Amino acid sequence: MSILITGGAGFIGSNFVLDWFTQHDEPVINLDKLTYAGNLQNLVALQDNSNHLFVKGDISDYDLILDLLNKHQIRAIVNFAAESHVDRSIHGPEDFIQTNIVGSFRLLEATRNYWNDLSKTDQEAFRFLHVSTDEVYGSLSDTDPAFSETNRYEPSSPYSASKAASDHLVRAYHLTYNLPMLTTNCSNNYGPYHFPEKLIPLVIHNALNGKPLPIYGDGQQIRDWLYVKDHCSGIRRVLEAGRIGETYNIGGWNEMSNLDVVNTLCSILDEESPRSDGKSYSEQITFVTDRPGHDRRYAIDARKLEQELGWRPVETFDTGIRKTVRWYLDNQDWVNNITSGAYLEWVDKQYSE
Ligand code: NAD
Ligand code: DAU
Repeated sequence: MSILITGGAGFIGSNFVLDWFTQHDEPVINLDKLTYAGNLQNLVALQDNSNHLFVKGDISDYDLILDLLNKHQIRAIVNFAAESHVDRSIHGPEDFIQTNIVGSFRLLEATRNYWNDLSKTDQEAFRFLHVSTDEVYGSLSDTDPAFSETNRYEPSSPYSASKAASDHLVRAYHLTYNLPMLTTNCSNNYGPYHFPEKLIPLVIHNALNGKPLPIYGDGQQIRDWLYVKDHCSGIRRVLEAGRIGETYNIGGWNEMSNLDVVNTLCSILDEESPRSDGKSYSEQITFVTDRPGHDRRYAIDARKLEQELGWRPVETFDTGIRKTVRWYLDNQDWVNNITSGAYLEWVDKQYSE
């Protein structure tokens, strides 16, 4: 038997697949459409691993999914595949609706068909884990308690609305068809292979290239940062022991304002790779127009996952962010391979206004 990972060439999916093989030898079928965000370079360490099978394809392709499920006797699916960048969803929501809603629906339909034909024992052992986000809960004020699993959904962007829709479909497939579903809602990740359109890798890349470090609005928006490998260990834990039909929040107990995150990155870079003129990278900070519908604060209450399944993050922000900066300094080729062509067009479009 094997597991099917969707979106396993993206940031979190590729970290998950790489980590999987440090813990298991169970085969992984890795299905990814290889959009601008998917990158086979992330998986180069697995090129000689016969337990890793990469398939280029779309989660919206019902026939392909059903074929993979049958052919590889899949016993679990972890669905990472999504359009994931809020700013892109504001410029053009269509792809988010297609992949995050229609794609999730088709994946669920193929799963339902496959699962219905399994033996009772295999049905009971089967799991579908849907990877979602804290953004579905909307925005917190400074004094609100952190998001718990029972918070109502109040998404603000086309991205978060499309993720909310997929979460609802997952819930409906459990309640209506009895499919053994699990959902995780995680806070902001950071770490290796993070696409440089997102705040942390964008700031590292721009700093090293003498470009402005764009801060939206006043920079006082708060995010709850989690090192990506801790997210992966949380997902593995929910997959092995989560209660069917439940959702689990995953977070780092680590709220920080965007400006504090960027200043931290600048001071680490000042130590690790100082500017030739001796000035701080923080001189490159530039305040720019705010994101429309920008959520003010996210914070995750991850006590359910801790109390039921004993999961805690290993990294603090201090240890995780240092590892991350080091990784980007050591892997500038990885970034440079991405930051050309289509990426440059996106940066022009997003930051010229
Ligand atoms: P990413 O954009 O880096 O990767 C997404 C991957 O999905 C890419 O490899 C892309 O090629 C693939 N993909 C896109 N559309 C597809 C389709 N139709 N069929 C098959 N593959 C497709 O995203 P990420 O940051 O790794 O996020 C992965 C998942 O985790 C997403 O569902 C996202 O909503 C969720 N999430 C992300 C974060 C975060 O901080 N990045 C936090 C919580 C939850
Ligand atoms: O909370 C989980 C979510 O985290 C995931 O669901 C999303 O897939 C992921 O992209 C991330 O969303 P954010 O919008 O929080 O991440 P991003 O890195 O785009 O932005 C982080 C914060 O930094 C946010 O408040 C916007 C701000 N920002 C971002 C960019 C790209 C800036 O101030 N300047 C920038 O140039």
